This record gives sequence, structure tokens and C-alpha cells, in this order.
Amino acid sequence: MAKLRTAFFCGECGHETIRWQGRCPGCGAWNTLVEEPVSRKRPLAGREARRGEPAVPVRLAEVEGPETSRWRTGLDEFDFVLGGGVVPGSLVLIGGEPGIGKSTLLLQVAAGLEAAGHRTLYVSGEESPAQVRLRAARLGPGAGEVSFLSETDLDAVLRRSEELRPAALFVDSIQTVYTSELEGAPGNVGQVRECAARLQRYAKEGNVAVFLVGHVTKGGTVAGPKTLEHIVDTVLYFEGTGSLDHRVLRATKNRFGGADEIGVFRMTAGGLVPVPNPSELFLRERTQGVSGAAVVATIEGTRPLLVEVQALCTKGSYGAPQRVTTGFDRQRLALLLAVLEKRAGLAFGQLDVFLNVVGGVRLVEPAADLAVVAALGSSVFDREVPGDAVFLGEVGRGGRAAGGGAGGAAAGGGRAHGFPAGVRAPAGGA
Ligand code: TYD
Ligand code: MG
Repeated sequence: MAKLRTAFFCGECGHETIRWQGRCPGCGAWNTLVEEPVSRKRPLAGREARRGEPAVPVRLAEVEGPETSRWRTGLDEFDFVLGGGVVPGSLVLIGGEPGIGKSTLLLQVAAGLEAAGHRTLYVSGEESPAQVRLRAARLGPGAGEVSFLSETDLDAVLRRSEELRPAALFVDSIQTVYTSELEGAPGNVGQVRECAARLQRYAKEGNVAVFLVGHVTKGGTVAGPKTLEHIVDTVLYFEGTGSLDHRVLRATKNRFGGADEIGVFRMTAGGLVPVPNPSELFLRERTQGVSGAAVVATIEGTRPLLVEVQALCTKGSYGAPQRVTTGFDRQRLALLLAVLEKRAGLAFGQLDVFLNVVGGVRLVEPAADLAVVAALGSSVFDREVPGDAVFLGEVGRGGRAAGGGAGGAAAGGGRAHGFPAGVRAPAGGA
């Protein structure tokens, strides 16, 4: 047997090199090159891959848009995150850690589509029909209507799908399917990329909505090349929120709707249940009567959201003090600590600082600064922030809080109680 030619591929960007290097020349990531067989056949892209007929230009106004119709799944928060329902002919990637509920979510989506009269095919390379049937039984009657196929050979999957002609095809997961046209095991960079490209073509040509489950690496990105995210129309991440049974579905890319939209679900014995008002949920879990917590109003996608920022500043025991953040940028925290040191005379040099944003929310807007500062100050002085206060404002290097573009800074009901004098209450707020 002829020896396979191999090369090194970057797990992040898919870049190919002949020799191993510590750093990918394509994207600059470290330790991402893995040796893989070079595909026997160069995968062809786009229309080239089909019978070689050249494309014909059309007037845009005459193009039939898939967006004219969207399919409701009945899982309102899911439809919302997608931008108003499932778009026929779209390719959607759902990433998330093992056990977070991706398969449950997609089976519910399939059940919802079946209930709305759209045929579905659920392909799993990870679970047996019996396992999935058990899950379906917990999810209620609709899930029983979903057609199930246990298969990992993508060519076979596509053949079956062409026979059954489902409106929506679910592939659980993209790392377990393979095409025999390429060398290499399922899950390697070339396989993942080629399978996704094929499914993209299948989605577009057949006007089938295709959903892919993608495993997430330790770094938090979908395993396989970054190019996977470029191939698909929509990328959704399914994450835990810190509390045990809540899940956040976040669109990080969406060709058919707003990116950064989130939907919140509760995992119950009967599957995932949408939570229509996440603010209520996040604030209900609030720790009243404890210092170090402040509420911020943030925007997630198009919806406002109230979440709590929790800070814990404690005397470090030895070595360099710790700076641990969840849901907030560490550099930004470092800057805010420096501002508090310089402008308010607070000394953090000996303190470990832990900062956590409740609900799995990531605060990226500068307007979240004031809530962070309030939580830090509250923890240092061990004084509770009034429960009815909402903080909004960017804290500048000079120690002043400024309003963002959207309506200015405001510290609702509460004043900047006993906070360092250098951190002034925002204009118009207190
Ligand atoms: P699963 O969808 O298998 O996760 P993933 O596909 O992301 O690996 O869900 C795993 C967990 O969800 C499992 O621990 C059991 C729990 N679960 C429920 O709590 N209720 C349910 O109705 C179902 C189907 C699962
Ligand atoms: Mg699964």
C-alpha cells in the first residue's frame, strides 16, 4: 500500500504546512499544528464541485429568498436567537461542552418542526437509537415523530436524506461524520472542513435547514478549524450559567439575524424550557444583604438585561495577588483597579480580587465599569449596595464616570454610597 502523504494542519485556521512548527504561520496560534494525511482528492469549493457547469448571473430582485418564510420551532427563545425562526437552506452550528444539552435542544427543535408539519431527520454518530428514543420519551409526544438515523458516513447520510427529503437535517456531531473521499479519521481538520462544506452545499441546493452539533475545545471554541465558523451561516453557543439548571444560547454569528442575541433556558426533567424574562431569573438568584454585589443594565443583542456583578476582595496569603474574572475582561479590571488606586486611594496591592458576572453573561460594554467599581468598593468597605440601585457608566482613567451613547450614566435609586470620593456619582444619576 502506498504510504500516505501527510502534512501539518492548524487546528485553528486550517493552514497547511509541510514541516511542524511551534507556531502556525497562518494565524500565529501556538501548538495548534497537527499531522494529518493530505486528502487524496482536493476538495472542490462551491459550484465547481457540482458537475462543473458555470454559474449564471441573476438579478438580485429575482432571487428567491429563503427568508421569505421562516419556520417556527415552538421553542420561542430558540426562534428568537435565530432571528425569528429557522431559515430554510441555512446551515447552523451549535457548539457547547459535553453534557450541556445540545442533543436535547436539537431534538426538541426537531420535534417542534415536526409538530409544525416539517419533516426532520436526526442523524447521530454518538448515540444509539435506543438512547435517543429514551430522551425523546422525556421530551413529550412530538419527539417521537422525528426520523432517526445512526450513521457516521456522510455520503450515506446525504443519500438517505435525499430519499427522505426532510425540511431539516440534524447532524450530531460534525466531529463524528466523515467522508471516504478523504483520508484521515473523523474529527480531523480536513474531514470536519470537507463535511461541513458538503453539508453547506446540500443545505443550499436542497433548501434544507441543516443543524450541526460541534464539540468545544478546552479553549472554548468549536473544535476543528476556525474555518468551520466561516462555512456556516449561523454559530450558536450553548453554555451553562453557573447555576445548575440554566443554559444560555448565544448567537456569535448570524447571517439571518442579529449576532450576540441570547436566549435563556431551564433544563428540567422534561427537557429545556425557555425563560422569557432572563433579568427576573438572574436577579431572583441575587444575594441580598451581602457586600460586593451591584446590578448593571446591559444590552444583550437587542434586549436589555439586568445582571448582578459580584466582587470579592480578600487579603491574599502569599505571592502576587490574584485577579480572577468570569464574564469580564481581566485587562479592564486591572485598569479599573488602577483607577481606584490612583484616584480613590484604595490599595489593592495586597488583595486578591475575584469578579464574577452572574448568569453566564459577558459584560463587554464600557458602561458596565461603574457596576464593577461599585461592587469592588462595596467589597473593600464591606458595605452593601442598595438593592434597588442600577449602575451604568464608563469609568475613565481620571476616575470620572461618563455616560455612554445610550442615554447617559445613571445610578438608579441608590447613591454612590460611601464610595471612594474620587469615583464621582455620574451626572444626573444620583
Ligand atoms: P445532552 O443533550 O445529552 O447534552 P450534549 O448533547 O450537549 O452532550 O444533555 C445532557 C444532560 O441533560 C444530561 O445530563 C441529562 C440532562 N437532561 C435533563 O435534565 N432533562 C432532559 O429532559 C434531558 C433529555 C436531559
Ligand atoms: Mg450530545
